[in-house]
Amino acid sequence: MVIGGTAGAALRSPDDGHQPPATDEGSWLVRYCIFGDVHGNLEALETILADARRQETDRYVCVGDIVGYGANPSDCIDRIQRLTRQVVAGNHDCAVVGRTDIEYFNFFAREAVLWTQQQLTPEQSSYLRGLPLTLELDGMTVVHATVHQPSLFGYIESAMAARQSFDAMTSKLAFVGHSHVPVTFFYEDQGEEIWYSQDNEVPLGDFSKTIVNVGSVGQPRDDNPRAAYAVYDSEQRKVTIRRVEYDVEAARQKIIDAGLPEVLAARLLLGR
Ligand SMILES: [Fe+2]
Repeated sequence: MVIGGTAGAALRSPDDGHQPPATDEGSWLVRYCIFGDVHGNLEALETILADARRQETDRYVCVGDIVGYGANPSDCIDRIQRLTRQVVAGNHDCAVVGRTDIEYFNFFAREAVLWTQQQLTPEQSSYLRGLPLTLELDGMTVVHATVHQPSLFGYIESAMAARQSFDAMTSKLAFVGHSHVPVTFFYEDQGEEIWYSQDNEVPLGDFSKTIVNVGSVGQPRDDNPRAAYAVYDSEQRKVTIRRVEYDVEAARQKIIDAGLPEVLAARLLLGR
């Protein structure tokens, strides 16, 4: 089953004192920018953050994989550190600091991990080392890969895998990344049914639980090279997957100039 801003707002980080309006129940009404799989692609990151400003997002949450593949891992870490504290670790973030084995990485990913290790400052490495695998905030679960086994970095790409994560969720809503393909899974516990949608407009409705994969900022893999991220409006209870054109050519050239595998540059043009 497939289910189906205004310009000019200043960027507000969660640490700059901005407070969104509260509801009668005391919870915050917020427009979240939820993004991940940046993979060292600074051009894509800056472009989606500019788009998020135009969408008047109030809070920024990163589902992991800041580094790996792209040519600007340090700049991306710096930018995200300044932007938000709400960040979880992805498998590439873990790999570059030895938190996870790179044996199961393919050759190109491994090459990128080894190159990235040489780029980071000791402070940036310790930042990646300290990132949590899972965050619970404002009624949401945030994790890079799966809710049920966050340290194993499996994929939610089937109803069975989605069911395992739904069973592990204590919240009603989870945001993930990892596959680089935006998709939303819905669970209705009365009939024990699972649906998914690849629509960009995702009303959350009355589903028992929902898992949103926000796609990838820096290396989309759904045959669409535009950078992907999500705007979650907690008042309207709606998620919108945004697709944004960015300077792919600049990001591609930087990968080549850095001496990283050329396949990592070529795939940006194709979105796969
Ligand atoms: Fe990734």
